[in-house]
Amino acid sequence: MMGMTSQTPKSRRSFSDFLLHLHPSAVPESTLRFTLSWGLGGTAATLIGLLISTGVLLLLVYEPSADRAYSSILTLTQETPFGLWIRNIHHWSANFLIGIILLHIIRVVLTGAFGSGRRLNWVIGLFLLLLALGANFTGYLLPWDQLAYWAVTICTSMLGYVPLFGSWLQDLFRGGAEVGAPTLANFFVLHVAVIPGFLIILLLWHFWLVRRAGGLVQPEDPVQDAASNRVPTIPNLIAREAAVGMVMIAFVMILSIFVNAPLLEQANPGMSPFSAKAPWYFVGFQELLLHLHPVFAVLVWPLLGFALLMWLPFWEDAALPPGIWFGGSARGRKLALWTAGGTVLVTFLVVVGDDLLLRSMSNATSNTFVTRGLIPTLLMIGLLMGFYFLLAEKLKYTRAEAVMAGVILVLVALVVCTIIGFWFRGPEMRLTWPFVQNGA
Ligand code: HEM
Repeated sequence: MMGMTSQTPKSRRSFSDFLLHLHPSAVPESTLRFTLSWGLGGTAATLIGLLISTGVLLLLVYEPSADRAYSSILTLTQETPFGLWIRNIHHWSANFLIGIILLHIIRVVLTGAFGSGRRLNWVIGLFLLLLALGANFTGYLLPWDQLAYWAVTICTSMLGYVPLFGSWLQDLFRGGAEVGAPTLANFFVLHVAVIPGFLIILLLWHFWLVRRAGGLVQPEDPVQDAASNRVPTIPNLIAREAAVGMVMIAFVMILSIFVNAPLLEQANPGMSPFSAKAPWYFVGFQELLLHLHPVFAVLVWPLLGFALLMWLPFWEDAALPPGIWFGGSARGRKLALWTAGGTVLVTFLVVVGDDLLLRSMSNATSNTFVTRGLIPTLLMIGLLMGFYFLLAEKLKYTRAEAVMAGVILVLVALVVCTIIGFWFRGPEMRLTWPFVQNGA
């Protein structure tokens, strides 16, 4: 392979220079192993590239007004060459982005990549997650169909439960008391300007911090001289990144030929569908609303979860030994698998048990703030602390392994709530079997 010599064309050289602003010029050979990161961060970045490029094309046809939005989507999908395909690519990239970011977070936790030297990047990553969720959610309203209208009505009404500021927050997002033309205008500006602006800035910062940390996380190996096994970024790393990116692009493009993004009838504020659901990435919180007092479901639990994640890298020795999955310990790997399996089972039993048995009993008391709020919250905190002490004190796992198990517990519980809310809730949010017609 030819190096970047003085014969290299100028345009190619400046492209290489650009790439080398985002990467160190040489990277440790051990970090090139695909199974270290599974290319998840790069895949997320590729999806963001697809989203921006298809988003700009969509803007050529889309009209952001309540009167014209829906018909402009029909024009796009029925009359514009490749319009349907471009819309599908935008839709699937946006949804995969959330899933890929979650996997990226799990990989960072399981390879001990949020410890020393990477703490700030973890925090920036969490804000990137919020921005990606915000971008998805604001985009959800833009087609102005029944699905969009009622999902956004559900989610913005969740904001109304926030104590003191609730109705102010709800009005701020909606631009009035109901979801309507001002909401669409607000969401449009957030979606095409404010959120992408912050996203790009934080993304560049995120990449630069990976670069400043000397590339991906790698095992501490005092015997080897780290510099001796470094290889040039171009072509070694870039070729691998390009391969992963191209596979993802091809996958989304092919899927988008066959599977269309949903579009129901035009939004009708007077007619709510049978069971309006939040977008899938908020369905886990909607599920919490069925079990907890709204203040706890919408505010206290999400804030506690987010604060816990924020604090994680600043807790001494909470990260696994860096650069090896599960810190290189077979016991740690077993713990992770057992925790994930146990959480699936327990969450499922708690949700179904609460639905069938407990809710009617505790709702019979008037003070649901205590029975559905304080008590379950204290139980959850007690469970997490008890689990931690059992692992760290009694079973002699390291602190990092116990923390890893706690993170897995929280994330898997959220995923199970999402699956139950998405597939197993039918009309009026009653438990049901998925894919069974609930006409009655
Ligand atoms: C828009 C979303 C995101 C994008 C595009 C992104 C992209 C990337 C990329 C390209 C890398 C280099 C390694 C790799 O490919 O895995 C990386 C590393 C990293 N990311 Fe993200 N990321 C995002 C969100 C997050 C989130 C939500 C977190 C955690 C809360 C996070 C934490 C980290 C950390 C700690 C590293 C350093 C890992 C290491 O050194 O091995 N990122 N990210």
